[in-house]
Amino acid sequence: MTDSLIIAFDGPAASGKGTLASVIAQDYGLPMLDTGLIYRAVGFQRAQKGLSLDDVQPMVEIARTLDTETLDNPALRGREAGEWASQVAAIPEVREALKQFQIDFAHQAGGAVLDGRDIGTVIAPDADVKIFVTARAEVRAHRRWLQLVKGNPNLSFEEVLTDIRLRDERDSSRASAPLEKAADAVLLDTTDLGIEAAIEHARRIVKDRRGSF
Ligand code: DC
Repeated sequence: MTDSLIIAFDGPAASGKGTLASVIAQDYGLPMLDTGLIYRAVGFQRAQKGLSLDDVQPMVEIARTLDTETLDNPALRGREAGEWASQVAAIPEVREALKQFQIDFAHQAGGAVLDGRDIGTVIAPDADVKIFVTARAEVRAHRRWLQLVKGNPNLSFEEVLTDIRLRDERDSSRASAPLEKAADAVLLDTTDLGIEAAIEHARRIVKDRRGSF
């Protein structure tokens, strides 16, 4: 038994990884970082400043000077912010500028829980537990649509499904730190699982991997 525990959750958009990561972080009293939010924050600022995706240096500057205290801005959770995040996340220089902060967060004393796309592969390949959370695209789109339609009653399921497929494709096919399951990650497919069942699976995976931690 060690006194540090790093848990990595990776997976595609709306797979449920964020919810599972929060529950597990609470279970173990660990700090949690939703790394999608930092890409969302950079994408959001790029859009606000009217920068093109070719304006790499200004985007790197945004990433380098990002105030992580501002990640609770609800606008970052919106549909457009997800798309903007996926676009800037494909730029290697932006990823590099955000990397050390994430590495330091993961390796702080006591450990941490992080969720994202490349936590188990790039940010914390040494994580004690790696869980790759996925679900069929239609199921993920339906979950995301249920969240988003509250604020946007005209939003159709098909629009959300198109977004999800586009993001899956971009996040998985980019050259720099693409979305992929680490060889030693446990796969958790939540397609046929309700939230409680998914939480139970995640808890069991963590316990199994950690022994009696
Ligand atoms: O997890 P999310 O939907 O909030 O992430 C938004 C986008 O950010 C996602 O489409 C890809 C990118 N991202 C990434 O490339 N690497 C991460 N570790 C987290 C997110």
